[in-house]
Amino acid sequence: MDWGMKNRMSKLIKPKTGKAVWLAVDHGYFLGPLKKLEEPNKTIGPLLPYCDALMLTRGVLRNCVDSDIDVPIILRASGGNSIVGKVLSNEGITVSMEDAIRLNVSAVALSVYIGTEHEHQTLINLSKLIDGGQKYGIPVLAVTAVGKELEKRDARYLSLCCRISAELGAQMVKTYYCDDFPKVIKGCPVPVVIAGGPKLDTDEDAFKLAYEAIQEGAAGVDMGRNIWQSDFPVAKIKAIRAIVHENATVKKAIEIFNSFKNKK
Ligand code: R5P
Repeated sequence: MDWGMKNRMSKLIKPKTGKAVWLAVDHGYFLGPLKKLEEPNKTIGPLLPYCDALMLTRGVLRNCVDSDIDVPIILRASGGNSIVGKVLSNEGITVSMEDAIRLNVSAVALSVYIGTEHEHQTLINLSKLIDGGQKYGIPVLAVTAVGKELEKRDARYLSLCCRISAELGAQMVKTYYCDDFPKVIKGCPVPVVIAGGPKLDTDEDAFKLAYEAIQEGAAGVDMGRNIWQSDFPVAKIKAIRAIVHENATVKKAIEIFNSFKNKK
């Protein structure tokens, strides 16, 4: 790996712990203004001091985020679908590498829809984005999307998706936590981070998800709704940070959450 790419990776996955807490706020690219992300600047602002990177689209980055922030950017570079359209898997590359460089991003992210009618198209998109990234030293995060038409989230399927993404050259992969998660980690030669998915019933459930993923080998979390749809998003991300970077238990995370939730 060249120096520039290694340097960008080291900004995303903290060398001190080898782990990462990324805040995902890219959902609007196919979901529109979903709950608690209607005004992205208001959602993102208070959480910025606690995330190791921000994952979002170029539209929200340019319009809703100050350019003097000290947080690396993971730029969503795929799209072309919507929740009210026919299928979610029909994605293309939506950002040129030149524009990603202009935005000074630390990585670009693209979804692959393995097992759908757009499997080939999205894997070729990934390969093209990786070629562009290799040229300029920009790492690519492959997102193993499942979408509304494909609800397979077992280790067999997710390990297939992660491995194929890594084989095509993705420097990092984002997937879902699942039963037998170590199988996913074992089969993937690059760092794997997990999405949080839809908001879970309790805060404890989200802490358990993060804890189990980290203990079983995830490099971190790229979490959205379970943080910013919380009634106490800052307390939530602080507790998640402790799980990821300090090996905090679920019990400890709950204590941290409770101690910060009523602080301004
Ligand atoms: C979905 O396609 C987006 O990439 C989200 O960034 C991802 O799902 C993570 O967010 P959440 O934790 O809300 O699932």
